[in-house]
Amino acid sequence: MFAFMTSTAISTDEFKLIQAWIEKECGISMGEDKAYLIESRLARLMVESMCDTYREFYFKISLGNDALLKAKIIDAVTTNETLWFRDESPFAIFKDILFPQFDKELALGKRTGVKVWSAACSTGQEPYSLSMTQQEYLRQCSGSNLKGAVSILATDISNSALMLAKSGRYDDIAISRGLPECYKTRYFKQEGRLNIVNTDIRESITFQPLNLQNSFLPLGKFDVVLMRNVAIYFSQQFKAELIKKISNCLNPGGILILGASESLSGITHDFELKEHGRGLYYQLKGGSTSAIGHVASNNIASHRNGPAVAMIR
Ligand SMILES: C[S@@+](CC[C@H](N)C(=O)[O-])C[C@H]1O[C@@H](n2cnc3c(N)ncnc32)[C@H](O)[C@@H]1O
Repeated sequence: MFAFMTSTAISTDEFKLIQAWIEKECGISMGEDKAYLIESRLARLMVESMCDTYREFYFKISLGNDALLKAKIIDAVTTNETLWFRDESPFAIFKDILFPQFDKELALGKRTGVKVWSAACSTGQEPYSLSMTQQEYLRQCSGSNLKGAVSILATDISNSALMLAKSGRYDDIAISRGLPECYKTRYFKQEGRLNIVNTDIRESITFQPLNLQNSFLPLGKFDVVLMRNVAIYFSQQFKAELIKKISNCLNPGGILILGASESLSGITHDFELKEHGRGLYYQLKGGSTSAIGHVASNNIASHRNGPAVAMIR
């Protein structure tokens, strides 16, 4: 009866209302070609909310008095796709360039710790991969000063993604996506059908909810920020604001790592592009800390990342 009364097809006007609400609440900018996404991801929530049309649904959510419904919509419209050691190169950059440099600076008393932020960590594979990379570094460098010196903050706007991340419990399908077998043995314990991240790895990371539209000031300063595969969903204007806020929350000479298809071209000149193997990263210009890594040649960004518009839009 209920399904009979309710139309889950969205009109152009309704799409515009919901699209504007989503952009206001989480910065995600959806073109009109994404109407099918709203239909497929929100139809159930609209019906559950006793609304017969998306217009009615829009007015209900616009009242702003149902935090649970808002969280469910955000969970539904965000894309939480991720995998272990995604793109590999960011983790090689840590192992080969950043960790040795930080290690040296710790030994020389030039720093007391290292703060890393995985902004938009989704279900946790990114920060856990980073923590495992640190463990691997420590296994190879027994006298390292990095032990206990790296703190990792991992944030996301999606409550359901963060809950899974915090739990550190993954089924075999999730585990099979990019995790080397030897890491599964070393850093997980099996309980029935679940693989549970070892406590020391889990405890090396602080998970907390954060909307990237909010102020970063309460987070303090970071040495490295990973902001991968999230800005692709934002408008050009929001991306520029976001990068400005990230520049402000990085320590002098701090590092920003983007997704493999992303770049800062056309957004800011605050960073110097560096390369390591097949990977690229950005270092905040004008820092007082020693330069890290190699400056990338001019044409590398376009070679590796494709045309800037591929990411910037
Ligand atoms: C495709 S995943 C990327 C995960 C991971 N960084 C990676 O590269 O594998 C994008 C993540 O961005 C999050 N996200 C989207 N909009 C956000 C916002 N405004 N604030 C914080 N996180 C957001 C989503 O919830 C999702 O988990």
